[in-house]
Amino acid sequence: MASIPFVDLKAEYEAYREEIDTAVSRTLSSGWYILGPEVAAFEAAFAAYTGVAHAVGVASGTDALLLGLKALGVGPGDEVITVAHTAVATIAAIELAGAKPVLVDIDSQTYTMDPVQVETAVTPRTKAIIPVHLYGHPADMETILEIAIQHRLPVLEDCAQAHGALVGERRVGSMGDAAAFSFYPTKNLGALGDGGAVVTNRDDIAKRLRLLRQYGWRERYISDLAGYNSRLDELQAAILQVRLAHLDEDNGRRQHLAARYSAQLENLPVQLPRIRPSADHVFHLYVIQTGRQEALAAFLQKKGVGTAVHYPVPVHLQPAYRHLGYAPGSLPVTERAARRILSLPLYAHMPEEHVDVVSRALAEFF
Ligand SMILES: Cc1ncc(COP(=O)(O)O)c(C=O)c1O
Repeated sequence: MASIPFVDLKAEYEAYREEIDTAVSRTLSSGWYILGPEVAAFEAAFAAYTGVAHAVGVASGTDALLLGLKALGVGPGDEVITVAHTAVATIAAIELAGAKPVLVDIDSQTYTMDPVQVETAVTPRTKAIIPVHLYGHPADMETILEIAIQHRLPVLEDCAQAHGALVGERRVGSMGDAAAFSFYPTKNLGALGDGGAVVTNRDDIAKRLRLLRQYGWRERYISDLAGYNSRLDELQAAILQVRLAHLDEDNGRRQHLAARYSAQLENLPVQLPRIRPSADHVFHLYVIQTGRQEALAAFLQKKGVGTAVHYPVPVHLQPAYRHLGYAPGSLPVTERAARRILSLPLYAHMPEEHVDVVSRALAEFF
């Protein structure tokens, strides 16, 4: 293992070990393991934190997107506009819902959806827009919402990488018609297994989501809708309650470490993360840009520093998505970013000294 790992999930567990162990033990002793009081308590706390009326726990972030789309009425024949510069799950969920992903380019400064491109991608078949709040930085929601309102299109926010981020005073997840969260262990709000949630202010969507996540059941064994099995389990919900109580504190740690990186890397020939004036960036990832991506990653690896690229091949150029019909060069900002980005080590409880060691290694390289 690298002496400076890219992420250290054990350290994140150790930081709140006693509280997590208490929550786990309480749940194990309860005799109730799926969709019970722990899930209900977490849903209430997460809805309140996000500033929305409802949160519905599901099995993963991918399912949160899929069920969110289904609850919005998206299905075969529909188009959903999103970005190719995202986790493959965003696009996979659109296809799982039976719809066609329409991919647009990103803004070169923040790596999030370019609203100008959305405007030109709207067709009579467009049924929804999924902006992705990538790396912890919110998409340009003000402009995207204006376009959505103008075309009467619902917005499903993909918040998998931005728990707690703000646009002005508003949390991500509270601005669209619905929003999908992942609680994969590496996320800013991470479980110790898979988990996800959809949040919404709309009662009709929340009601559909609660049916969709469990076989469409209105009551036990009576299905009103063709649904799924996508339930959040009690253990993860109990752990998530602990983690949620520390989310702002943990995001503050990430922001502190990111600021330390930016101060130390300021004079190097790399592009540092940029933050839109109305945005609060929660630094799920600290991503720099360089023309020497591969060489820098290899150099850092030799020095024992773990790095990653999010993501090396944009979704539209991946083998599984050739059928979408996007040629190389069709999303130039996305494709350029993929060749230049590098994510440096960052997690909430990473020692500050790691930032210094990594920054010195970068200085040596350049
Ligand atoms: C932007 C984005 N959307 C969706 C997902 C899917 O979440 P999950 O892995 O919980 O299915 C992820 C995480 O992998 C993600 O980063």
